[in-house]
Amino acid sequence: MAQVERWGTRMGLVLAVAGNAVGLGNFLRFPAQAAQNGGGAFLLPYLVAFVLMGIPLLWVEWAIGRHGGQFGHHSTPGMFDKLGPFRWLKYVGVFGLFTTLCIASYYVYIESWALAYVFHSLIGTFREIAPTAFFNQFVGAESESIYYFPGEAILWFVLTLGLNIYILSRGLVKGIEMAAKIGVPLLVLFGIILAIRGLTLPADAAGIVQSPLAGLNFVWEPNLGGLANPKTWLAAAGQVFFTLSVGMGSIHCYAAYLRQRDDIAVNAMAAGWTNECIEIVLGSAILIPIATAYLGLAAVQQATSSGSGFALGFLTLPTLFNNWGWFGPFAGALWFGLLFFAGITSSLAMGQPMMSFLQDEYDWSRVKSAIGFGVATLLLGLFCVVLFPGGAFDEFDFWTGTFALVVFALGEAIIFAWIFGMDRAWDEITRGADMKVPKLFRFVLRYVTPTFLLLVFFGSLINPEGGNWGTAVASLLSGSGWPLAADSVAGKIFHVGSDYSWFDAAGNPTRDLVVDGTRLLLVLVFLGCSFLVYKAWKKKRVSA
Ligand code: PHE
Repeated sequence: MAQVERWGTRMGLVLAVAGNAVGLGNFLRFPAQAAQNGGGAFLLPYLVAFVLMGIPLLWVEWAIGRHGGQFGHHSTPGMFDKLGPFRWLKYVGVFGLFTTLCIASYYVYIESWALAYVFHSLIGTFREIAPTAFFNQFVGAESESIYYFPGEAILWFVLTLGLNIYILSRGLVKGIEMAAKIGVPLLVLFGIILAIRGLTLPADAAGIVQSPLAGLNFVWEPNLGGLANPKTWLAAAGQVFFTLSVGMGSIHCYAAYLRQRDDIAVNAMAAGWTNECIEIVLGSAILIPIATAYLGLAAVQQATSSGSGFALGFLTLPTLFNNWGWFGPFAGALWFGLLFFAGITSSLAMGQPMMSFLQDEYDWSRVKSAIGFGVATLLLGLFCVVLFPGGAFDEFDFWTGTFALVVFALGEAIIFAWIFGMDRAWDEITRGADMKVPKLFRFVLRYVTPTFLLLVFFGSLINPEGGNWGTAVASLLSGSGWPLAADSVAGKIFHVGSDYSWFDAAGNPTRDLVVDGTRLLLVLVFLGCSFLVYKAWKKKRVSA
């Protein structure tokens, strides 16, 4: 077995887990989700979901991780195998490999845009070419066809992935911990500079239509309206998952490198709250206020309708920085530098689970494992890159970056509290704890979190059109059936609301073909990961 690694220092550990959580989700996805779901109306469901679902899941994942680590398992299949007597448990753990690998494949691509944009900001590209035109040509967003070979973007992607693999191959302390020690402070610094500059934009400066503070108010002013809207709850829960990196297998992996009596209660809280501060304070103080100042609130809400924040981040912001004179190129470099550092400390956390799996269960060396992860990510990533115009990227994001998280979190919450058993679970969470974990959480872990997750699961499965649950129930009762939303899970599976066909009248492949092809690929990746697990355990039985 490969030599056991450990985190270097507690500070390094907390920075690494904070770097894991703080990512593109904090600076692009959060502001976009908040803007799209009514700003302050989003905040309350978001905070409730953080406390009732986020924090408990963090403890569950840290506990499962540290527990598994004691048996030499640093990835979820082996960890889940140790949670109970059933053989199928390790296949639930396959999610922790599948999800991180697939998210990495498209996430590193966005991260590479950020790196490319640092370069282009500094050389003044956005003064020559409008950022919108640049972006479309860079990734092929406006391509008429379903595929596009973005030469330059592929170059940056390969470069960024190479950097990730290099850092991963250096190991936990010299690689991940080091990257976090550099990346996290820098991104906070860059964020603070941009926030101050943005929030103090003078009202009489050229092009300003509204106070930047209007943008901040919009996100921060709590509004009870969201509490009654299931759609807001689903969006809030989805954001809590993504931003905390829970339901992915990544937290478990980092926690597995702790010692049996190391604290997890405080570490988990520290990383979780650091992420929330950076998300709620810095995440809402840059993109939305600056864009609001120049475009007005209504246009900002319009621009975030996809919920991803890419448009504001990569098209709008570089355009607006052009108003900032000599500081413009530097503002661009700070913004995209921030995104890059936020991204890379997260993508490392997506790579480590597969690395650990190959090292632990196949006895691969660190370098070989890093290359293995790199090749898999490169192939899956290129699929997303080339078929971006056909929608492959969005499929990856939905199934692996949204849906799989809920499924895995539901599974682990139930397995941990009910199969591993609440007494042992509680003992795992509180052993070595540097804080007194409120007893109330025993109850929360057992009943509240699983119920909450079940609601989120069914909610996303059958989410009705327009998020209008009242109308949908009325329609069902009156015998007109359930109006499935096209973006609900069931709606997607059954291609609701589109005249579905793989080829158009002229016989050319359509987006539907790409969408179904991508889904097939994802299923195959899941089966592939399961097969690797099967083989590893078979080998163990033979050699035992
Ligand atoms: N939490 C990260 C973000 O907010 C994303 C992430 C996903 C990190 C999976 C690690 C693993 O961007």
